[in-house]
Amino acid sequence: MIEYNESEFLVETEVPQDELIISRTDLHGKITYANETFCDISGYTEAELIGKAHSIVRHPDMPSAAFEDLWQTIQAGKQWKGIVKNLRKDKGFYWVEAIVSGVYKNGELVEYKSLRTPISYETKLQYQILYDKMRQEHNERIRKVIYT
Ligand SMILES: Cc1cc2nc3c(=O)[nH]c(=O)nc-3n(C[C@H](O)[C@H](O)[C@H](O)COP(=O)(O)O)c2cc1C
Repeated sequence: MIEYNESEFLVETEVPQDELIISRTDLHGKITYANETFCDISGYTEAELIGKAHSIVRHPDMPSAAFEDLWQTIQAGKQWKGIVKNLRKDKGFYWVEAIVSGVYKNGELVEYKSLRTPISYETKLQYQILYDKMRQEHNERIRKVIYT
């Protein structure tokens, strides 16, 4: 089993209840728009996000299968809704419920957009356990926390 253990991943940023984290990407997942809340919560400036692959905020605890499902769903023209743990620039993390879907102009798919809202502590715990299990089942590196 391959493990990583970096305590810097353990600092959580709470997403405020009354704010939406919004971003848009081109059809390949490159960020074309980031709202102020996205910048604040991820710890990046707008200039650091625009033009980058959205995986810039990918957390190592996320199973690849979640993103495969996301891309399959949105490429089929459907809306994807899921729980995502994201990585901040400072290696801290934040949990969200994300809704990802297409942006259409004159009936043509031009971009993708994502709206994210906070989730409860219970949901975070539930998904941490689920995602750890999914990563383990797919031989992906898993988190190891050592209390000394
Ligand atoms: C509109 C949109 C928003 C996305 N938001 C996130 C996100 O917040 N966090 C994330 O890790 N991946 C997000 N993704 C998925 C990434 O494009 C990417 O598939 C994922 O980070 C996994 O990285 P990888 O494909 O390089 O393995 C988003 C994709 C789209 C189209």
